[in-house]
Amino acid sequence: MTCSAMTSALLLPILACCLLSASVSVAGGNFYNDFDITWGDGRAKILNNGQLLTLSLDKASGSGFQSKSEYLFGKIDMQLKLVPGNSAGTVTAYYLSSQGRTHDEIDFEFLGNLSGDPYTLHTNVFTQGKGNREMQFKLWFDPTNDFHTYSLLWNPQQIIFMVDGSPIRVFRNLENRGVAFPKNQAMRIYSSLWNADDWATRGGLIKTDWKNAPFTASYRGFNADACVWVAGRSRCPARKMGGSGAGAWMDYQMDVTSQKRMSWVQKNYMIYNYCADRKRFPQGLPTECTIN
Ligand SMILES: *[C@@H]1O[C@H](CO)[C@@H](O)[C@H](O)[C@H]1NC(C)=O
Repeated sequence: MTCSAMTSALLLPILACCLLSASVSVAGGNFYNDFDITWGDGRAKILNNGQLLTLSLDKASGSGFQSKSEYLFGKIDMQLKLVPGNSAGTVTAYYLSSQGRTHDEIDFEFLGNLSGDPYTLHTNVFTQGKGNREMQFKLWFDPTNDFHTYSLLWNPQQIIFMVDGSPIRVFRNLENRGVAFPKNQAMRIYSSLWNADDWATRGGLIKTDWKNAPFTASYRGFNADACVWVAGRSRCPARKMGGSGAGAWMDYQMDVTSQKRMSWVQKNYMIYNYCADRKRFPQGLPTECTIN
């Protein structure tokens, strides 16, 4: 072995190791520091020194958690691994929400299914207490096999829903056309696993099979590169030069490649779009559906 080959053979693992630990510390989410378990009487658990959180559901109760912080804009990532096998009737909700009657809310909800049948990823956006903006998707992978990343990029121009980095849905700021946009109310992150077999799977036709209980969903890899609401003020992460790094999401706009990716997802995996549901809106589609 030559000297330089040896150096690089020695250096590479060290470098790789440093890079790895750097990215781990950036991802840095620790469920003990960032979240509170809010209900479920021991059914929600934080494990592995705060690196893993599990929710469970049985006939008596589901469980849930919420973030300690409130956020106003950010890029928020969470990895989820959903209830495997026969998860029909179960719903895993993961969302941001502010408080009160005119609250804002950004939802991911995963509706379980019979073994082998696809989960439905249900999304919605509430502004000033008004929702009715459902879009639903199938996924291009089995979300119960492994962890996948579900992200929200929320800045003053738009909210982008992402799955493993692919944008699947955008809600644009169309305030100038009279559509309210979430930008004044800080939101907490909430998640819960619960029984919704009156509606979740094939419209409530398929009930939860309690023989399979307890049902478990797992979370890891939380990362919030976000403005945190502290004492009535928003504190944003420092922006780095060159537009990447912390805070780059603040003025992010989708480029042509991401637009194409989103069109691909919507064309192939979208199963419901309120903007295409004219029967539901006989007086005309909501304004945001009519603007390109
Ligand atoms: C469950 O699978 C059936 C059959 O493929 C499908 O029609 C349905 O949309 C799936 N999801 C839910 C939540 O019912």
